[in-house]
Amino acid sequence: MLMNISRWLFRVVFCYSMLSNLSPILGAELVVDVGSRKTLTTEELLSRPDVTSIEVPADVVYKRTMTYRAVPLRAVLSVDHLPPDQELQIKATDGFVTNLPPKLIFPATEKGVEPWLAIEPSDKPWPQAPTGAVIGPFYVVWSNPAASAILSEQWPYNVESIGIVTESAARWPRLAVAEDVAAASPVRSGQSLFVTQCLPCHRMSGAGDSTLGPDLNLPRNPTEYFQPRALKALIRDPASVRAWPHMKMHGFDKEALKDSDIDAIIAYLGYMTGRRHWESLQAVLADGKIRSFRTRSCELATGGCSTVLLSSSNKHALSDGTIAPARDRIHTAATRRISGAPNSHGRTV
Ligand code: HEC
Repeated sequence: MLMNISRWLFRVVFCYSMLSNLSPILGAELVVDVGSRKTLTTEELLSRPDVTSIEVPADVVYKRTMTYRAVPLRAVLSVDHLPPDQELQIKATDGFVTNLPPKLIFPATEKGVEPWLAIEPSDKPWPQAPTGAVIGPFYVVWSNPAASAILSEQWPYNVESIGIVTESAARWPRLAVAEDVAAASPVRSGQSLFVTQCLPCHRMSGAGDSTLGPDLNLPRNPTEYFQPRALKALIRDPASVRAWPHMKMHGFDKEALKDSDIDAIIAYLGYMTGRRHWESLQAVLADGKIRSFRTRSCELATGGCSTVLLSSSNKHALSDGTIAPARDRIHTAATRRISGAPNSHGRTV
């Protein structure tokens, strides 16, 4: 009897160890959809004829020289240019989303800048980053990044998919500063740094692909509740301001953002408080009449407006079902009219 039990136990343990060993053997999957969708596995990628060992001096994540098995990213995409007005979108498993302008992937003149897809071998996992982050299974690294001024957030790791989307500037005009802002103003350079370094995790007035971190303008902008010194310290090293085990934002060292870069980002953030993008929307309500509302986070720019959050004043007016918003609350500069989308009360607006 005892014999049988131990045999049975042995079988269970043996099967379990076989199963748990299976996952590294199967490797990870990467979805690439640049025109046609394909799913590539670690093994497929590592057995490509163009896979090679590359050395990356000053790796942005590991902060030292690293060697990877990698394939040229352009070859993985299997296209020699991106469709007009599109950019490459790389998504990571934790919700980080970076959009790379085509000129970085396909520079007009040969500068020696090259993006690579580094592939973590199943039997030889990469070390943890100094931040403690796990980097595999796929990581986009660059050779000669300085020639195109590639920034830290353009080295996405934990990559799970690569696709194309309409350029950020066209999707979200609200990210832009007004035309009358001087060309040399830090607010302008702050905008472009914000889009590259912060938008992969944060939204600005509802614009952005990621919801990993909070929106940095709605309902409040950090320049309204952090002293400038604290905000700068937080961007440089969030844990120097407050720390807890599950914090996800990493700091930006001086390689990633110079002091003047952080100042420019803070200038842009401050500027954006004056352009807070409360949406104004013309809604066709149940009684068939058209009225205007101020709404919070309705993606008018992309046309997707499935949930309309009404500002509290209008919500009040709506909740009794009689639909009589106070005159003084009505925003007259309605920008667009959307009909057919249900609002948060299930009404069609
Ligand atoms: C890798 C993702 C990531 C990037 C990149 C990132 N952040 Fe964050 N950030 C977060 C997350 C997540 C939080 C919420 C706190 C946490 O979990 O660390 C946060 C919190 C913050 C906060 C505090 C907000 C609050 O109300 O507490 C500020 C301010 C901020 N980030 C600014 C920035 C700026 C400016 C940049 C660009 C220079 C940036 N972040 C880049 C992920 C990121």
